[in-house]
Amino acid sequence: MQFLRDAGAVRRTVAAWSAAGDSVALVPTMGNLHAGHIALVEAARRRVARVVVSIFVNPTQFGPREDFAAYPRTLPADRRLLGAAGADLLFAPGVKALYPHDTHRAVTVSVPGLSGELCGASRPGHFDGVCSVVLRLLNVVRPEVALFGEKDFQQLAILRRLVADLQVPVAMACVATVREPDGLAMSSRNQYLTPAERSVAPLLAETLRDCAKRIAAGRKDYARLERDAVRRLRAGGFRPDYVAVRTANDLARPGPDDRRLRVLAAAWLGRARLIDNVPVSAGSRR
Ligand code: PAF
Repeated sequence: MQFLRDAGAVRRTVAAWSAAGDSVALVPTMGNLHAGHIALVEAARRRVARVVVSIFVNPTQFGPREDFAAYPRTLPADRRLLGAAGADLLFAPGVKALYPHDTHRAVTVSVPGLSGELCGASRPGHFDGVCSVVLRLLNVVRPEVALFGEKDFQQLAILRRLVADLQVPVAMACVATVREPDGLAMSSRNQYLTPAERSVAPLLAETLRDCAKRIAAGRKDYARLERDAVRRLRAGGFRPDYVAVRTANDLARPGPDDRRLRVLAAAWLGRARLIDNVPVSAGSRR
């Protein structure tokens, strides 16, 4: 596996692969890789000849009081994992490589509407930072396909809008959330949990699954289901930001005839902000 920090060198490498007829995928990450990331690399390998993984803890997607400084950085271990998983190139740029005019004066792209809702309501500017870095990474690597995890379901919806509206020639693919045996969605932030918090953390996935079951059984009183789920999480020791039932394709508030839905949540447990979501097909009215 090649390891490059320089954007120009990445461009030249990918251009040589493309000239040789090899298709290229990009898996953007912030490192501290776990099985969820490796599932993205494996899915990429099934689709294309060459897999590029980027590792960049993007400062512009963290708020001033968020965990940018504390975010786990484990490059040597990540490098070993990616080599074993069969990635072809690890791109690990420094800040200047992606933000040459420093982050405060950087050109920013923003997807209106959805970026201010759900996670965007409690993390102002977060999705602008995500869009701004992903567009830069796509412009450096120019992959045919970019892969993202479904755990960040809102991120995926926003990035799909970004590439569609700006006509970025890339296919956006998603990979199902990888979970621990007790149901907790894998996340780099799980390591912020104390042993006691870790033991209650699966309640988040369980609450979403139960909410989805009720919807599948025909419940349409979504606001009430959301309130009940928030109450259950609070009783379990979480500080929920939101639980929301939304349409699966554009995360709008569902009407009575919308069938493909998603139940999403973000909740604090100790110093970890956990997110999760599950799919649901709305049942017939009850
Ligand atoms: O999902 C993530 O890890 C990040 O938001 C991403 C897409 C790599 C952008 O920094």
